[in-house]
Amino acid sequence: MKSILQQQLERTGTNSVKWDGLGRWFRLSEDVLPLWVADIDIRTAPSISEALAAKAAQGEFGYTLFAPEAQDAVSDWYGRRHDLNIEPKHVLFSSGVVPALTHIVEALTDVGDGVVIQSPVYPPFYELVDGSKRQVLDAPLKVTEGRYEMDFVALEEAMKQAKLFLLCSPHNPVGRVWTKTELLKVVELANQYDVIVVADEIHADLTFPSQKHTAIASLDQRVITVSAPSKAFNIAGLFASYIICSVDGWRKQITKVQNKHHVLPTPFANTAIIAAYTDTRAERWLDQLREELEQQMNEVIDLIESNLPMLHTTRPEASYLLWIDFSQLPMSSEERKSWLHDEVRIFLSPGRPFGPAGETFERMNIGTRRELLEEAVHRLQTQLERKAFV
Ligand SMILES: Cc1ncc(COP(=O)(O)O)c(C=O)c1O
Repeated sequence: MKSILQQQLERTGTNSVKWDGLGRWFRLSEDVLPLWVADIDIRTAPSISEALAAKAAQGEFGYTLFAPEAQDAVSDWYGRRHDLNIEPKHVLFSSGVVPALTHIVEALTDVGDGVVIQSPVYPPFYELVDGSKRQVLDAPLKVTEGRYEMDFVALEEAMKQAKLFLLCSPHNPVGRVWTKTELLKVVELANQYDVIVVADEIHADLTFPSQKHTAIASLDQRVITVSAPSKAFNIAGLFASYIICSVDGWRKQITKVQNKHHVLPTPFANTAIIAAYTDTRAERWLDQLREELEQQMNEVIDLIESNLPMLHTTRPEASYLLWIDFSQLPMSSEERKSWLHDEVRIFLSPGRPFGPAGETFERMNIGTRRELLEEAVHRLQTQLERKAFV
């Protein structure tokens, strides 16, 4: 089958945040390689585009309810792909995963309550807790023999003071797919300290073929899951996401907050969810993409290890985000930022917003054509040599 990742897709000039945002927000020129925002430089599955085109052809774009067929589709998908049984009526629509997490925090906690996160973590986790005037309780991950792990001592301490835990599973940016054993321990601690677990599983469907994602809600029915077909099928701009909550009282409270914020699907959101989760052509496309991502991830890590010995990575188990340690470079994060943009001419996501331990890290998005990644490594190597760092 034709490669998905190596296809050519011109995104410049499409108002892409990743590509056009560099010029518009940071005044950088077009030759800077954008390896930051978490979407992929590919078209979505052709069967999804077809379904959206058919929906567009109807010409009906009025206010839209969450389709029962979309709830069924989420339930079937989780049952088939992640061994999680869900009642379709327990699935709520959300126009984005971050809004979903924000609304859940607003619904199920009060101002001043503690919310646990595990840094380094996707920056909106901090922002949404802070922004809701709840207290961030960080239980940082630890690195054991080059692998990120949960620090259960820190997690237990944080849980003692917490009302809710925002779990990132698989984890952005470190790429861990948490094992069943780790997740059982999380559930055990959450039950012991009466903490609500909210799992952001947006990257779950991009778990590499060599790994196995465990839906934590399959270990405890009270866990709330938030996800979307957005990362897996590269349709993040459609804002078609959902919340799975089987506790009736919590679902009612979340719905109340969603109503306050006028959460409704666009007419395309239902179509996208149904097309992604029920058409076997889309499922086959996704399985091919996962294989290509795993292979490309390994190739990029090999390239870095052979050509950039000053940089270090851990091996992600899902998705397309690579967390790279630049600590051996004698530069502050501000100096590194200018150097990357002005001299290397690549744009990575700076690590600092992911938490204190991110200060010396950058996150690279490898979801693009291989030749761009080779070019990025080449540019890094050239500039490191110029600085006599290699
Ligand atoms: C862990 C995680 N959660 C949520 C999001 C964003 O989700 P949304 O755009 O649906 O709000 C991302 C995007 O990168 C992510 O990595």
